Amino acid sequence: MIRVTAITDKFGRPMKDLRISVIDRCNFRCTYCMPKEIFGRDFTFMPREQLLSFEEIERLAKIFIDLGVKKIRLTGGEPLLRRDLPVLIEKLTAISGLEDIGLTTNGSLLGHMAEKLKNAGLKRVNVSLDALDTDLFKSINDSGVGPERVLQGIQKAKEAGLEVKVNMVVKKGMNDSEIVPMAKYFKEQGISLRYIEFMDVGRSNGWDFSKVITKKAMYEELSKHFELEPVEPAYIGEVAKRYHYKGTDAEVGFITSVSESFCSTCTRARIAADGKMYTCLFAANGFDFRELLRSDKSNNEIKGEIINIWNNRTDRYSDERTEESAKNKQKIEMSYIGG
Ligand code: GTP
Ligand code: 5AD
Ligand code: SF4
Ligand code: SF4
Repeated sequence: MIRVTAITDKFGRPMKDLRISVIDRCNFRCTYCMPKEIFGRDFTFMPREQLLSFEEIERLAKIFIDLGVKKIRLTGGEPLLRRDLPVLIEKLTAISGLEDIGLTTNGSLLGHMAEKLKNAGLKRVNVSLDALDTDLFKSINDSGVGPERVLQGIQKAKEAGLEVKVNMVVKKGMNDSEIVPMAKYFKEQGISLRYIEFMDVGRSNGWDFSKVITKKAMYEELSKHFELEPVEPAYIGEVAKRYHYKGTDAEVGFITSVSESFCSTCTRARIAADGKMYTCLFAANGFDFRELLRSDKSNNEIKGEIINIWNNRTDRYSDERTEESAKNKQKIEMSYIGG
């Protein structure tokens, strides 16, 4: 294989992270992500043969790692619905050059998977949880699952030795009331909680700016109860802005795609479950690597395509979202690309 040192895009951003969606299905129907009106019984998900196989994902990951990717995050839909996921994790962790591997999950199946994931080599899980109140959580995920099941998954993950962070999407009128209770609970547990500003991903989540609670507003609310101190970013391009609760090691973070975009340091490439590569969460078009993987193309030819795509990358959607040109843009759905 040709060895290439760090490739960069049109704005000089290197490609360092790869988010791989392993399935487009989810067992939740969060109202802000997969509303039942759209993702109902007759919605057509990808048939199995259209998903990249583990061997195909492994081959692609090796090429990306050879091009400078250091960190892989597995996503969905809900990645734990993909059968035998630990087998894929074993394959990926065996690749030399990869420094970090994580998984983003809704936590509902984590209880019985945590140990297996850890044994396969997984280091970290980010678990989504938008409320601790049972009725509210059920009304958000619209699938009848209560928060206890997710909390149990988190507990099992901790016991298995996985590093756990919690993601909470905050949407005005949906779960504002949970901002402080979630902070109290996870501070007590010593688990890092990240508040995510509700984003305009895809076309089906009914986003508008009036439903966003900005980091500033959340910070002010938290400051009434806790004293927060900023933590230096662990690396350039870190997605969350982090704080310590004064006098403790417990952390809280904010993911501010709307109020303080972080495109200038974005080093993330994404592969959807069907093998399409996207250079932004808000992209409309992807490049079909499944077709290449299933053709007689060599690894070098595939590598050449990735270099070409990344070299031509100009994405900075969060910087541009208020501009006229960004309005009515076609965008892929969150459950398809995995966030
Ligand atoms: P860590 O490695 O633990 O920092 O993971 P992460 O925060 O990058 O990944 P996670 O899947 O937990 O994502 C948390 C939130 O950040 C989700 O809502 C993602 O959609 C969002 N996010 C992650 N990367 C990007 C990005 O490049 N752009 C935007 N706009 N949002 C992102
Ligand atoms: N805005 C912000 N975050 C979202 N997520 C899903 N949809 C949105 C949205 N519209 C979150 C999930 C999960 C992560 C991958 O993205 O809850 O934590
Ligand atoms: Fe909810 Fe995540 Fe499933 Fe979307 S992918 S419906 S946010 S659990
Ligand atoms: Fe990266 Fe696109 Fe997110 Fe900006 S909006 S940080 S370019 S994925």
